[in-house]
Amino acid sequence: MSHELNPRELRHAAEELAQQAATALTEHLGCGHDIAVVLGSGWAASVEAIGPITASASVSDIPGMRAPGVQGHGAQVHSVAIDEQRNVLVFLGRTHIYEGFGPQAVAHNVRAAVAHGCRTIILTNGAGAINPDFSSGQVVLVSDHINLTGQTALVGPEFIDLTDLYSARLRAMVRDIDASLAEGVYAQFHGPAYETPAEIRMARSFGADLVGMSTAVEAVAAKAAGADVLCLSLVTNMAAGVTGAPINHAEVLAAGAAATNRLGSLLSKIITRLSDGP
Ligand code: HPA
Repeated sequence: MSHELNPRELRHAAEELAQQAATALTEHLGCGHDIAVVLGSGWAASVEAIGPITASASVSDIPGMRAPGVQGHGAQVHSVAIDEQRNVLVFLGRTHIYEGFGPQAVAHNVRAAVAHGCRTIILTNGAGAINPDFSSGQVVLVSDHINLTGQTALVGPEFIDLTDLYSARLRAMVRDIDASLAEGVYAQFHGPAYETPAEIRMARSFGADLVGMSTAVEAVAAKAAGADVLCLSLVTNMAAGVTGAPINHAEVLAAGAAATNRLGSLLSKIITRLSDGP
């Protein structure tokens, strides 16, 4: 008979799995890391523009990790050199809520990265723009989020303060690197269908500038695990109903492909500055 985990067991199992993954990351990549980057839709190709890949592991070698179920996401985790001494941990793709494996699976990458020693988690995503001042191809710094999935990876009384979830210090650092970057509030929907125009009007009235199907659940789990969180969205399309044009995944990928070098160079500058310390 199958045994349903009670909440305490569920939390313990997630922590245990993150620890096992952390150890496997060290074994397969051959070193530790302070910073992890999750490359989402549109961002994955920019990995080589961050720096040379010095070691790679297949997600199948890392306990609990899954091959991303979406085109445009890779099935490997890389150690990328930023200079002779320092490396950054790079996940190509992520697990999404809409894949149906539950919020623990979604949070696993960031929890594993924190257990492995990463103190800063950089999340990236492709997003629809709700704010009509944004346009396709633009990078926006996420200043806050609205989680509309109804899901969280936290179990039990983890009353985490989220007033500075997307670290104001890290955002100021990034704006210092590129003063032209706008900021915006990201709304996470469950997906996988893109939103209806009415849902986008609702999200806009709630204060959202960007919409996507990732990030919020991971950001909260990363913060709860003790990391500082930074998030960059690449606007891949205008959200449903903003211009009336239909949305498709090919357009999301094309916006990423067009921005590859720009995204890699921005990430590389951010990571270098971060690892130089305050
Ligand atoms: N909606 C949700 N997720 C997305 C979008 C969108 O418009 N664009 C890229 N990811």
